[in-house]
Amino acid sequence: MCEIIAITNQKGGVGKTTSAINLATSLAATRRRILLVDFDPQGNASTGSGISLKTDDITTKEVLLGENNITEAIFKTEAKFDIIASDRRLTVAEVKLLQLQNREYLLKQALLEVQSNYDYILIDCPPGLNELAVNALTAASSVLVPVQCEYYALEGLASLVATIDQLRKTANPGLSIAGVLRTMFDGRNRLANQVSDQLVAHFGSLVLDTIIPRNVRLAEAPSYGKPALLYDNTSQGAITYLALAGEINAKMSQRLLAVNE
Ligand SMILES: Nc1ncnc2c1ncn2[C@@H]1O[C@H](COP(=O)(O)OP(=O)(O)O)[C@@H](O)[C@H]1O
Ligand SMILES: [Mg+2]
Repeated sequence: MCEIIAITNQKGGVGKTTSAINLATSLAATRRRILLVDFDPQGNASTGSGISLKTDDITTKEVLLGENNITEAIFKTEAKFDIIASDRRLTVAEVKLLQLQNREYLLKQALLEVQSNYDYILIDCPPGLNELAVNALTAASSVLVPVQCEYYALEGLASLVATIDQLRKTANPGLSIAGVLRTMFDGRNRLANQVSDQLVAHFGSLVLDTIIPRNVRLAEAPSYGKPALLYDNTSQGAITYLALAGEINAKMSQRLLAVNE
C-alpha cells in the first residue's frame, strides 16, 4: 500500500522543503520506493534534489492540468528517489484550477496511475492554504507538519487543523496526521524548549520523537543540488533525517497492522 504524505504548514520557512528532500532520501535509503512531488512554484525541492528543469520538460503543472501523462513527468534523482519537478509555471496551474470543476481532486487522480509503484509519495506543499494545498490534502493519506520552535509557531496551526477536519468531512474522510515535526531546533534556546513543550501539550503523541536540529549542512546542501545524506553523510542533519525515516516507517507499519487486525 502506498502512503501519500503531504508535507505542509501555512507558514513559509519552517523546513517543509528541507524535510521533503531529506525524508525522501532517507526513506529511499531504507529501500522504500519513493516519489517526491514538488508542489511549490518556487521549485526548491526540485533544484535541491539536483533537477534543473528545461522549458520543454514536463512538470507538475502539465500533470495537474492533464496536459501530459504523469509517467512522462517522472525524473530519477541521484539519491534514488523519483521526483515530479516544478518551477514558476505551476503558478499558471493554480490560476487555471480556479476555473475547473472538481479541481481539488486533480492531483489525487493523477497519482492514482502511479501510486502502486511506490511505498511513499511525499508532496512538498507551498506555504498557505490555497488551491494547491487543498489538492495536496485531498490526495494525501496523511499530513506531516514541520514546525519551527519559535515565537508564533503555533499561529496558523489551528487553521491547518480546521482545514484537515473540514476535508475529513468532505473530500478525504481517511486523512490522518502522520506527525508534527520539530525542525531547526536549538536545545540551548529557552524559547525553543518552551514552544516544543507547548506543541506536546497541544498535540500529544502526534508530536514525533525525532527532533531535527538546526544544522548548517542542511542549509548548505541545496546549493549543491544534493540532499544532506549525499552532501555530508556524517552531519547531524543527515543522521537525524535517517532517524525520522525510521520513525515514520515504524509508525506506518503499526498502522498497517492495526488495519489488518
Ligand atoms: N534544520 C535546519 N537547520 C538549518 N537550516 C535549515 C534547517 N531546515 C531548513 N533550513 C533552512 O531554512 C530555510 C527554510 O527552509 P525550507 O525547508 O525551505 O522551508 P519551507 O519549505 O517551509 O519554506 C532554508 O534556507 C533552509 O535551508
Ligand atoms: Mg518550501
